[in-house]
Amino acid sequence: MTSHCALLLTPGPLTTAASTREAMLRDWGSREPDFIALTRRLRSQLLDVIGTPSGYAAVPLQGSGTYAIEATLSTLLGPRDRLLVMSNGVYGKRIATIAERLGHSLIVIDTDETAALDPQKLDAELAADSQISHVAMAHGETSSGRINPIEPIVEVVASHGRALLIDAMSTFGAIPIDVENSPIAAVIASSNKCLEGVPGIGFAIARISDLQRATGVSRSLSLDLHAQWRGFEGNGQWRFTPPVQVIAAAVEALNLHASEGGVSARHARYAKRAERLVRTMESMGLEALLPADARGPCIVAFRTPEDLSSKFEILIDHLRAVGIAIYPGKLTVADTFRIGCMGAFDGSAWERFFDCFGAALCKAGWRQEAALAGLGE
Ligand SMILES: Cc1ncc(COP(=O)(O)O)c(C=O)c1O
Repeated sequence: MTSHCALLLTPGPLTTAASTREAMLRDWGSREPDFIALTRRLRSQLLDVIGTPSGYAAVPLQGSGTYAIEATLSTLLGPRDRLLVMSNGVYGKRIATIAERLGHSLIVIDTDETAALDPQKLDAELAADSQISHVAMAHGETSSGRINPIEPIVEVVASHGRALLIDAMSTFGAIPIDVENSPIAAVIASSNKCLEGVPGIGFAIARISDLQRATGVSRSLSLDLHAQWRGFEGNGQWRFTPPVQVIAAAVEALNLHASEGGVSARHARYAKRAERLVRTMESMGLEALLPADARGPCIVAFRTPEDLSSKFEILIDHLRAVGIAIYPGKLTVADTFRIGCMGAFDGSAWERFFDCFGAALCKAGWRQEAALAGLGE
C-alpha cells in the first residue's frame, strides 16, 4: 500500500496551498504570449520578494536549487577567479563540491557543523590572498537549521572589494536579504521552500553588471546563467522546454506570499511555529541542537536521544501512516532529526502534528511518560 503524506515537515518539497496546485491544471504553450507574460510576472515577483533592488535581475532556471547554484558558479566565475567558501554544514560543502567539479580555484574555511561562521577568519584570508574574487556561503544551513547572518560577511567582503554569492535556498521569502548597495553578486534559491511553490525551478537574483560580464564564460550549455538571462531579456522565452505548470504554480505561490504580507509575514508565521515546536519537544524531553539565537524559523534540528535512535524508523513509519513526513538529520557531529516549519498549512495541522508525534513516540515505545507530556498542551 502506498501512503500519501499530506503534511510534509521536511526540508522540502513541502505542503503547498490548494490554489498553488490548482494553478497547474492547464496547459501552456511555451511560446504563447500568455506564457511569456507569466514568465515576466514570475521574474518581477521574485525580485519583489527581495525588495526590487536596482541593478539586479531574476534569472529562473529549470531544475532544482542545486542546478541554479551550479549555473551561477559556472557563469559568474571566470578562469582567473578564485572562490572562498565559508562552510559550516552539508550545503556549504556542496557549494565547494560544485566549484571543485567546475574546476574553479577554491579555498574553504571549514567550520564545525554546530558553530557560527567566523567573519574574522574571512577577513584574514581575504587580506592574505588577493586572488580570491568571490566568497560564497549558505544563508540557512538546512542541515543544522542554523541561520548564518549575512551582514557581518557582507561587511568584510565589501571592505576587501570582493563579490559575495549566497545560497538562500531555505531562507528566501522568509528571512530578509538586503542586496541593495551590497557586494552580493547573486542570491540563489528555489521554488519549493519558503516560497511554498512546487519543485522544478531554481533561480538566481543576480547583479546585472556581473551577468553582462559573463558572456561565453559558462562551459555548460544548459547551465549558462548569462545565456538564460539574455533569452529572457531578448524574446521573453526560456531557452529550453520550461516546466510550464511549475511556473504557473510558482506565480500563484508568489501571489499568496504577497497577499500574506511578504517576507515579514512569512517570517512571523514560521517563527511562531518554530517557537511552539521547540517548547513542545522540550516538554517531551527532546532538545534542540542549536541555541535559540543560532537557529532559524524554517527548520529545527533536534538531538535524537540514544534510546530513541534505534526506534527512529518506527517513529517515522507511524507518522507516515497518519500522513505526516519528517526526516532524519544530515549531520556528522550528532544524531539528529529535523522538523520543517515551512509550508502551507494552518494552526490546526500543526497541533495535530504534535498529537501524532506524541502518539507515535508512545507506539515506538519511547519513554511513554515523556512523550505524553507533550500532548494536549
Ligand atoms: C541551503 C540549501 N542549499 C542547497 C540545497 C539543494 O537544493 P535542491 O535539493 O533543490 O537541489 C538545499 C536543499 O535542501 C538547501 O537547503
